[in-house]
Amino acid sequence: MTEQLEKKLASLYVSEKSGSDESGDGSEGNPFKTALKAWHQGGENGTAVFVEAADGGDAQKPKWQPISDSAVKKVKKLYQQDLKKAEKHAEKEKEDLARREKNLEEAKGIVISEDKSLPAAKQIKLRDAKATRDVRVKIFGWVHRLRRQGKNLMFVVLRDGTGFLQCVLTDQLCHTVEAVTLATESSVCLYGVIKALPDGKTAPDGHELVVDYWELIGSSPAGGTDNVLNEESGVDVMLDQRHIGIRGETLSKILKLRGVLTQAFREHYIARGYNEVTPPTMVQTQVEGGSTLFKLDYFGEEAYLTQSSQLYLESAVPALGDVFAIAQSYRAEQSRTRRHLAEYTHVEGECGFIDFEELLSRIEDLLVDVAQRVMDGPNAYLVHELNPGFKIPKKPIKRMDYSDAIKYLKEHNITKDDGTFYEFGEDIPEKPERTMTDQIGEPIFLLRFPAGIKSFYMKRVPNPTDPQDKSKELTESVDVLMPNVGEIVGGSMRMTGYEELLDAFKENGLKPEHYYWYTDQRKFGTFPHGGYGLGLERYLTWMANRDHIRECTIYPRFVDRCKP
Ligand code: 4AD
Repeated sequence: MTEQLEKKLASLYVSEKSGSDESGDGSEGNPFKTALKAWHQGGENGTAVFVEAADGGDAQKPKWQPISDSAVKKVKKLYQQDLKKAEKHAEKEKEDLARREKNLEEAKGIVISEDKSLPAAKQIKLRDAKATRDVRVKIFGWVHRLRRQGKNLMFVVLRDGTGFLQCVLTDQLCHTVEAVTLATESSVCLYGVIKALPDGKTAPDGHELVVDYWELIGSSPAGGTDNVLNEESGVDVMLDQRHIGIRGETLSKILKLRGVLTQAFREHYIARGYNEVTPPTMVQTQVEGGSTLFKLDYFGEEAYLTQSSQLYLESAVPALGDVFAIAQSYRAEQSRTRRHLAEYTHVEGECGFIDFEELLSRIEDLLVDVAQRVMDGPNAYLVHELNPGFKIPKKPIKRMDYSDAIKYLKEHNITKDDGTFYEFGEDIPEKPERTMTDQIGEPIFLLRFPAGIKSFYMKRVPNPTDPQDKSKELTESVDVLMPNVGEIVGGSMRMTGYEELLDAFKENGLKPEHYYWYTDQRKFGTFPHGGYGLGLERYLTWMANRDHIRECTIYPRFVDRCKP
């Protein structure tokens, strides 16, 4: 045995904060998340288990503490429960196997065929089920749920992406090899008639498909996807098996709402006379600071994945008038938070010949009108089901200056980790911002941030007291904060002067020659304009009341995850 392995077996490490039961190996560098996992991996047999101190440890108290007696008592109980569960599971598996083998033996030789004397079946999608009762139909889909009752009755909940339908299979239809081996997530074609249920029986939509014939299209392993993903799966497994997870009811509902929401944004802009633009996402300029740029090798030249389409939208206004884009943006955010993705869908608008007040009223109109469109549309049920308490925000949305937010934090004793207060000129990070927003409990337009903490392109508010004092310089900027989510929109008026913009490039260490096409706009007919970017996933997180932004995108990308 190598020295390293001996060491690994000698002690196991558990960190609730940074460990993982799925990808951890119990070593100090890659600890487990739970003591239970460590117990299964050797703790029960006497291997020493160390747990990370809740506060990370200090000079007096080492980071790794031997597991406490009370924790051992607790974990032993859980361990015993696990053993019992496993035993029961194995017994059931054995019984199931015996039954399946017997049924299978009997099933061989049973063949079903379509009764040609019945009317020809009309192929439908489940969204049309209600309108197609009492005629013979055929429906393709996946077995979402399956329940067997005795030998002669099977209930299938069929799913086809447009809806769900309870289906009943009886007698011979339950006896074929395909029937006795049928598992959830198999794809099938069911033939029969959708009948309203008699009083006393219940099923979704008050009807069920009485099947008269069926075909298996694609089988699924015994137990369906349960072996891959189930209620006990940890976060990493759920993310690895996302392609399976999205078949579930909640995730598929969120994804459906996402499509509906995207369409509502587009319809809002079209109704207000904006033109849609699709700018490139491979770029050689930065918009929101170098620290979150993804670099790529573009035929030998350095390029980046775009952080925002803003600069291109600004260039499009003189050509197309008010414009919008719904495109991917990328941020190499190092932190795993509930609201950050590395790739997200950015809804951005840019408007010419407006002032700051008009910009704010356009953002307000966007937020309210889009919610209204979704709630007035045929898919409002998705919001009702995901977030029954959803309310469309009321105009006017509360406004608050950045300087007043700093005062608010002080008055409400919201401090930094070291107990000191945030001072004017400092960025207000996610945590205190959320605390404030959640306390206030309604959407907030946070206005006029100091220039020092905002992007280079933002128009300055004229400083009447001391035009030379850069530390007091404010911008015509806005962040929209939503309870439970935090910032969902960032916007501003843009600088219009050529020289002023060149100075801003210099101050931010950017090379103006890379931005010639951007600065040219200030040379050829400069004009007052402003715009904003809204994170689609953040709006959806708010609308569907999700805990985590990752639920709001099909295959989330964040630090250390670029699959599936
Ligand atoms: O505030 P940001 O960085 O502003 C811009 O990018 C501007 N150039 C937009 C513009 O004026 N056209 O980002 C705008 C919004 C944020 O409010 C947030 O909703 C979203 O984009 N966003 C993210 N969403 C998910 N994950 C991330 N890592 C995000 N970073 C920004």
